[in-house]
Amino acid sequence: MTKRSACQMIDVEHQSAEPPEATARARMLAEVDEGLRRDQKEIPPKYFYDQRGSKLFEEITNLPEYYLTRAERRLLESWTSQWIDEFGPVTLVELGAGSAEKTRILLEAMQERVAAPTYVPIDISEEFLAEQSTILRKQYPRLQVIPVATDMTTSFQVPADLGRPAIIALLGSTIGNFEPGPAARLLGQARSAMTRHDRFLMGVDLEKDAQVLERAYNDARGTTARFNLNLLRVLNRELGADFDLQDFQHQAFYNADEHRIEMHLVARRGLTVTIPGAGSYRFASGETIRTEISCKFDRQRVADLFLQSGFTIDRWVVGADGFALVMGTPMD
Ligand code: AVI
Repeated sequence: MTKRSACQMIDVEHQSAEPPEATARARMLAEVDEGLRRDQKEIPPKYFYDQRGSKLFEEITNLPEYYLTRAERRLLESWTSQWIDEFGPVTLVELGAGSAEKTRILLEAMQERVAAPTYVPIDISEEFLAEQSTILRKQYPRLQVIPVATDMTTSFQVPADLGRPAIIALLGSTIGNFEPGPAARLLGQARSAMTRHDRFLMGVDLEKDAQVLERAYNDARGTTARFNLNLLRVLNRELGADFDLQDFQHQAFYNADEHRIEMHLVARRGLTVTIPGAGSYRFASGETIRTEISCKFDRQRVADLFLQSGFTIDRWVVGADGFALVMGTPMD
């Protein structure tokens, strides 16, 4: 999406003579076009995370209303040492790594027990990943960092010859941003990258009072609104779209029937947006683009998802804020 860096590019679908950037742009154009032609217009949330979007998301994780990150960190602080002692991982693969801020808890526990641990952060934002990898290498000289810049929502591979056992982690309730089918496919892919002795570690936000949930996605400072609107900025820059950000407004609400927060961008007036090479899209006043779902779980829904993906629940711990860490074991 952005400039090349020292990240390892793994793109199993890329087989043409086109440079990867051209393929990524063509895929983005096709996905955005398809999404904007639906009755409920949609844009995949993975496009939030350009450099600005990734920084805004970092800000969100520190907001007083956004309890998820703090809740998960507390659970990791309580359980990591015990789990690392028990499972003895030498490699940590992290899906959707971002700033690896909470991951440091796992990395530090691994460093204490393993001479040369390996960290494989997998993320779509190549620049952000490269920056974070440089920081981590400086901070943990014994740590081997192998960043993989790829779109985990389409497919991903882990480098061959990784030390095992490994933990594959999907933290921050990232799984909540997937519809059930793609969620099961993502976990199924993780499963196929694992041996029997590896473990899958996932953080999930649990269903709770709608007001608490809605506050977390409608913060007083408007950071989540800026994060949401940044998506249009990304489409303007990457695809030459002509969205006027002033024409759209952030909206987030809890959809209790679907057990999920939905984020939308609401058109403030009737308008038409054009994307060169794709088409024009008409918006009625008040019409929305759904930009993200954030599913909220209970143990049964996680167990069902695991069953579909080839895992059983091995550990399930819940914190006071209604956030859970779950450890999955591959089924034979
Ligand atoms: C990354 N993901 C788990 C966040 C969430 O809570 O669904 C993204 C987010 N969107 C708005 N605030 C945070």
